[in-house]
Amino acid sequence: MELRGASALITGASRGIGRAISRRLAASGVGVTAVARTPSDLDRLVREIKAEGGRAFAFPGDVRDASVCVAAVARAVEAHGRLQILVNNAGIGVRSPVADTSDEDWAEVLDTNLTAVFRLTRAALPHLVQGGGHVFMVSSLAGQNPIAGMAAYCASKAALDHFARCLMLEVRQQGVKVTTLAPGSVATGFGGEREETAAWKLQPDDIAGAVLDLLRTRDDAHLSRVEMRPLRPPTRA
Ligand SMILES: NC(=O)c1ccc[n+]([C@@H]2O[C@H](COP(=O)([O-])OP(=O)(O)OC[C@H]3O[C@@H](n4cnc5c(N)ncnc54)[C@H](OP(=O)(O)O)[C@@H]3O)[C@@H](O)[C@H]2O)c1
Repeated sequence: MELRGASALITGASRGIGRAISRRLAASGVGVTAVARTPSDLDRLVREIKAEGGRAFAFPGDVRDASVCVAAVARAVEAHGRLQILVNNAGIGVRSPVADTSDEDWAEVLDTNLTAVFRLTRAALPHLVQGGGHVFMVSSLAGQNPIAGMAAYCASKAALDHFARCLMLEVRQQGVKVTTLAPGSVATGFGGEREETAAWKLQPDDIAGAVLDLLRTRDDAHLSRVEMRPLRPPTRA
């Protein structure tokens, strides 16, 4: 895809992986529509991108709200004249055993990690099919590997993985690529983790670099799933 002049909508753009993807895309000439709930974090991102000569708009909103999904896509098209790249990245995790998981926690995880992705993708598709679009699903290795105490999160990512496969089969003939990124541990503040820079973890920019590489694959070649893991995680004694 020709990145200069393209347009991308990125959810969870204010921190961590989404922030790194937003900055890398903007640095490559892509107009970014940045979605997250916290306006001050988004404003800081947009200021940084503009200071580096890039194009970006903040769209503060909660992706669990169906009207936000529709409005964010409309804003991206209005701001940049088109929409070719959708990065479904916003995600949350709740740590609790099934026996202690409330209805509210279950719904929050599934609504953020799965239902919002469906709604955003549905809203974006009419635009993506016009220009050889690319949808990224930021899933997790937890979508294939069960983790005790994280059933809601693992179930949401497993469902996301399968949703992405179905979508890929539906839209490939229209020239739209759908790629699932499944990282292991990434050094972000995810799930209340300290935003430390543990050298052994993947860095947010590793995921952003993969997105750039995937966008540059030949038009007729499609990498539909990429697993990423730290090379040397700590070994258990
Ligand atoms: N970090 C890891 O080890 C890891 C590993 C595998 C996969 N992942 C996946 O990577 C994605 C990004 O995670 P991260 O590590 O970058 O997490 P993070 O640092 O906690 O960032 C999450 C981002 O999502 C936004 N967000 C959360 N809920 C939202 C909502 N309802 N509406 C709009 N925006 C929302 C947050 O901003 P606001 O709070 O301001 O809304 C923030 O920008 C997630 O899908 C996660 O499952 C992470």
